[in-house]
Amino acid sequence: MARLKAFSLTPLLLLLLDFFQFVNSSNSSTNTTRETKLLYSKNSGICETSEGVGQYSGYINVGDDNFLWFWFFESRNDASSDPFVLWLNGGPGCSSMIGLFTETGPCTVNSDGKSTSLNPYSWNNYSNILYLDQPFGAGFSTGPTLTNSSAAATYAWTAFQVLFTSEAFADYSNRQFVLATESYGARFGPVFIDYFNSQNKLIDSGDLDGVKIVVSSLMINNGKHDPLINFQSLVAFAQDAPGYGPLVNNSVISTISKAFDNTCSTLLQDCYDADISKDSSADKCNTAITTCTDDVMTPAVGDRDADYLLASSDTDDTVPTTYYATYIRLDDVQEAIGATLLNSSPTFDQCDDTTHALFSQSGETGRTFLPELAALADSGFRILIWGGDADMKANWLGLHQSMVQMSWYGNHTLNDTTLTNMTINGGDVASYAVVDNFTFARVYEAGHTLPSYKPLVAQTIFQQFVANQTIHSVETSTPTPSASAADNASSTASVNAILIFNFVLSVMSGFI
Ligand SMILES: *[C@@H]1O[C@H](CO)[C@@H](O)[C@H](O)[C@H]1NC(C)=O
Ligand SMILES: *[C@@H]1O[C@H](CO)[C@@H](O)[C@H](O)[C@H]1NC(C)=O
Ligand SMILES: *[C@@H]1O[C@H](CO)[C@@H](O)[C@H](O)[C@H]1NC(C)=O
Ligand SMILES: *[C@@H]1O[C@H](CO)[C@@H](O)[C@H](O)[C@H]1NC(C)=O
Ligand SMILES: *[C@@H]1O[C@H](CO)[C@@H](O)[C@H](O)[C@H]1NC(C)=O
Ligand SMILES: *[C@@H]1O[C@H](CO)[C@@H](O)[C@H](O)[C@H]1NC(C)=O
Ligand SMILES: *[C@@H]1O[C@H](CO)[C@@H](O)[C@H](O)[C@H]1NC(C)=O
Ligand SMILES: *[C@@H]1O[C@H](CO)[C@@H](O)[C@H](O)[C@H]1NC(C)=O
Ligand SMILES: *[C@@H]1O[C@H](CO)[C@@H](O)[C@H](O)[C@H]1NC(C)=O
Ligand SMILES: *[C@@H]1O[C@H](CO)[C@@H](O)[C@H](O)[C@H]1NC(C)=O
Ligand SMILES: *[C@@H]1O[C@H](CO)[C@@H](O)[C@H](O)[C@H]1NC(C)=O
Repeated sequence: MARLKAFSLTPLLLLLLDFFQFVNSSNSSTNTTRETKLLYSKNSGICETSEGVGQYSGYINVGDDNFLWFWFFESRNDASSDPFVLWLNGGPGCSSMIGLFTETGPCTVNSDGKSTSLNPYSWNNYSNILYLDQPFGAGFSTGPTLTNSSAAATYAWTAFQVLFTSEAFADYSNRQFVLATESYGARFGPVFIDYFNSQNKLIDSGDLDGVKIVVSSLMINNGKHDPLINFQSLVAFAQDAPGYGPLVNNSVISTISKAFDNTCSTLLQDCYDADISKDSSADKCNTAITTCTDDVMTPAVGDRDADYLLASSDTDDTVPTTYYATYIRLDDVQEAIGATLLNSSPTFDQCDDTTHALFSQSGETGRTFLPELAALADSGFRILIWGGDADMKANWLGLHQSMVQMSWYGNHTLNDTTLTNMTINGGDVASYAVVDNFTFARVYEAGHTLPSYKPLVAQTIFQQFVANQTIHSVETSTPTPSASAADNASSTASVNAILIFNFVLSVMSGFI
């Protein structure tokens, strides 16, 4: 259903882009600014309505007619010194507008699909944050469809070359840079940092002319780190999910356990062992992930919502839209945020099926991405691996096991460390373990898109992480806005929206 947005940026327009270099050609009707390779709308007044908090949204030209869509918000606290955060949703192929409007951004969209409410748990309370739609095909971004995260990394790097040499973003180029990813972002995160670091080395040695992109920390929630460990742990999770008990009966356990042992694990092991340079390896990996999903994941999930085991998947009368997706498709919203700068009627799909299919066919979704993460962890890099404990897509037992089985110096210590509860105003909200700069956290009663379910908990952990603090319990003397009420609200009323939304995503992508 996702089509590549065909348009042609004429050479004349490219010339115009150059002509307008560093000229703020404020357009009286749209406040559009054009810099070299960057065109955006400034302070559209959409979503972030807090007084004095700036925002930019638009397109980054990363070569030829290829453009990545971004939306950036200044910190509500101190934009001139707070960290710079890059948020990436997963898929692969899902728009980071999902994160912006339903997880960590400055607003949420009301049920009318036309108005927004400020999100007090937004991550821009403590950081400057940029949401990037990538790879091409995701959200408003447009360009050739890619087949793997390594290729995606090169365009993300180019995007930051443009941003950090632009007038609008130059101030952020030396700021503490935090990368926050979700789900398939378990692959984007380590691969992007790896690539950025290799480019930094070339710049240092004089072999490359460019701006260094120095990422200082990485946080991944509900990540797809390792299919083999994920599916194996899912069998145990379905049998007895900590805090929830058995999720399916013994006959289903027996079925999925046999499926894992007899086919899924063997196929995945074949995929892991295959020579990545051979075409047959892609086929093996694609077959493995499909088989494991059908024979282990699907029966384990049953009638539940894979994103949130406390909910049922029985949402068959929902239309394929969400409040935020309705909102972002409104003409006046698109005009205001600059989404129409390239094409007067851009299409928006929350997840791009073509990208998802190509990444699967290339074999990437079936492979482990632990080696890249292991190298970072082994170097003492600051990492937070966290997950909602009601998520079945990336069950937290599998997240923990992935970190324990990963090859890095802290694996034994992590294995031997009992998780400690974190409380907010005395209530248990999460449990965690720390090994130097590495933190693992399980967030109670949160689903796949963790911050949607537990906004206060997510914001609190985020705040501590970006401040270089060790995760810890907190007492808020003035509980404004009401802590538990907010997180309760999200686990009842507004979760209905999330559930519908997750259902749509599940149907559209299968693997988010
Ligand atoms: C301002 O933007 C509008 C809408 O995109 C366009 O029609 C108009 O020509 C622009 N005006 C100038 C002076 O660039
Ligand atoms: C342009 O920006 C100014 C402040 O930056 C704002 O007051 C005004 O409403 C904006 N105009 C439009 C058409 O968005
Ligand atoms: C986040 O910032 C908004 C706007 O400044 C404020 O209303 C809200 O209380 C802040 N949230 C928290 C949890 O402090
Ligand atoms: C990723 O895709 C690019 C472009 O198609 C290709 O050149 C490269 O070999 C691929 N890399 C991996 C690791 O598959
Ligand atoms: C176990 O659960 C499955 C799926 O819900 C159901 O079809 C089956 O009848 C159940 N078996 C028993 C023995 O309850
Ligand atoms: C933790 O990170 C800090 C800051 O980057 C670094 O100085 C320190 O060496 C790291 N610790 C370990 C044990 O690697
Ligand atoms: C733990 O990491 C070490 C490397 O530091 C590795 O040799 C070992 O295999 C890992 N343990 C497991 C169980 O994977
Ligand atoms: C983790 O602990 C279990 C026993 O509790 C042990 O069997 C396993 O080998 C340990 N793994 C690592 C990586 O230390
Ligand atoms: C940690 O929190 C969980 C969930 O509330 C609770 O069941 C458990 O008893 C707590 N553990 C400790 C040691 O307080
Ligand atoms: C956190 O540590 C990094 C180094 O790893 C440093 O650059 C940054 O300034 C620190 N941030 C804060 C808020 O202390
Ligand atoms: C939140 O929900 C729990 C049960 O789900 C309830 O015990 C608690 O009182 C609620 N808290 C608030 C502030 O509504």
